[in-house]
Amino acid sequence: MSNSSKNISLLNLKIDKLQKEISYLTFCLENDIKPDEYETEDIEMIIKSKKVEVSNLQSELDKILNNSRESDLTPYLNKIILGDCTEYLSKLPKNSVHMFLSDIPYGINLDEWDVLHNNTNSALLGASPAQEGKSAFKRRGKPINGWNKEDRQINQAYHDWVYSWAQQLFPVMKEGAPVLIFGARRTISSAIAAMEKAGFLLKDILAWEKSSAHHRSQDIFKVLVKRGNKYKLTEQSFNKMSDIEGLNVAAPTLESLLNIEFDKYDSFIKAVKNINPKLAKKYTYELLEIALADEKVKQDVEKWKGWKLGNLAPYYEPIAWLFKPYDSVVTLTDNVLVNEVGAINMNVGKINGREPKNILKFDFTNEEEKVHDAQKPIELIKYLINIMTREGQVILDPFVGSGTTAVAAKELNRNFIAFEINEHYHSLANKRLNQEIKKEHQIALEI
Ligand SMILES: C[S@@+](CC[C@H](N)C(=O)[O-])C[C@H]1O[C@@H](n2cnc3c(N)ncnc32)[C@H](O)[C@@H]1O
Repeated sequence: MSNSSKNISLLNLKIDKLQKEISYLTFCLENDIKPDEYETEDIEMIIKSKKVEVSNLQSELDKILNNSRESDLTPYLNKIILGDCTEYLSKLPKNSVHMFLSDIPYGINLDEWDVLHNNTNSALLGASPAQEGKSAFKRRGKPINGWNKEDRQINQAYHDWVYSWAQQLFPVMKEGAPVLIFGARRTISSAIAAMEKAGFLLKDILAWEKSSAHHRSQDIFKVLVKRGNKYKLTEQSFNKMSDIEGLNVAAPTLESLLNIEFDKYDSFIKAVKNINPKLAKKYTYELLEIALADEKVKQDVEKWKGWKLGNLAPYYEPIAWLFKPYDSVVTLTDNVLVNEVGAINMNVGKINGREPKNILKFDFTNEEEKVHDAQKPIELIKYLINIMTREGQVILDPFVGSGTTAVAAKELNRNFIAFEINEHYHSLANKRLNQEIKKEHQIALEI
């Protein structure tokens, strides 16, 4: 956390603490209750003095957020700045940015940069045995000891993290300017609440629809069939095998296991493996279910067959569309005329001749190289920039990753401000941007 962010967070905490005390004292006063912690009878006076303290702290905060800002945006334009964006957001000039578009960290422990809490009760960034060697879901971040109190505070910590920079961002945006943040379905509500606390208003939640998605769900019967105390192949089991294609041919090879009892699932599978390793690997769960002779577990398996643990296939990601409310003009149209933001360009937004919907279906193009775990398709980012800004306007992405927003803005003749904290991603982003610049020169030469 940068020093200015630390100061801001400390002031916020002090203000929150005082405000809680004020609410408590007001409640006592209104309900004729004497708060034990206070000697004096004059609760009204204590409330007043606490309100003065809040207002002093608020002015100190306002000073940091508003008074130490630079007046010129040029030094920040059209380059990807390596560093912690929270050191810069409180310096950017007021009312200077036309659009905020950022795929902010989601707070779901995707990688080191996405861990935004101090909770150590989770299997953070580790892999479970089932995940080893798989390309998707390399990290789990799932609590080892269940969802305890600390685990349930992860979203609150994420909210506070978003709030710490959203407050710095608020003065930077032009009145009426769109503020788009990508988020995870399970944490975006906290990000929206933090943005609203900082002063922005929510307009809509767009859905980015993907054509494929990694889907994590586990068959309950697969978990259950391993829980038995007794596994035995019987004559009847052999008949069941003949109903399953693939197993029907191989069944006779397991005849030597007939009527042998195993008390653990893995000793049974090991015995099958000794006879036919391929069979043991390919039909582990079918064989376990067929051999399961533990009546209690068998009942559970039957009851939960076809049920899964997990989510429905996640084919969309939410994009919260907020805006900075305007107060210097009266109507939306006036604001569009004065600040040149807040309208949608329907001419460029039409897809197959139809007006834009709030479900946006975009994929990576074949030419697009995927270099960042959280990379977004360039066409999606270009679309959003195109419908919400005009040429020459300024787009800010303080969490630019591999540089997608910067490349899209450059391609569309917009200015951009971009930050990235990680050196590796910063250099990848610069590489992508330079390729874009080279492409532009090439086109100019051809013309
Ligand atoms: C979700 S990724 C963005 C990926 C991007 N949309 C792309 O297409 O490549 C978020 C990025 O924010 C960066 N980041 C996290 N905290 C940051 C901070 N305080 N300042 C600047 N960058 C930060 C991370 O390193 C990560 O690359």
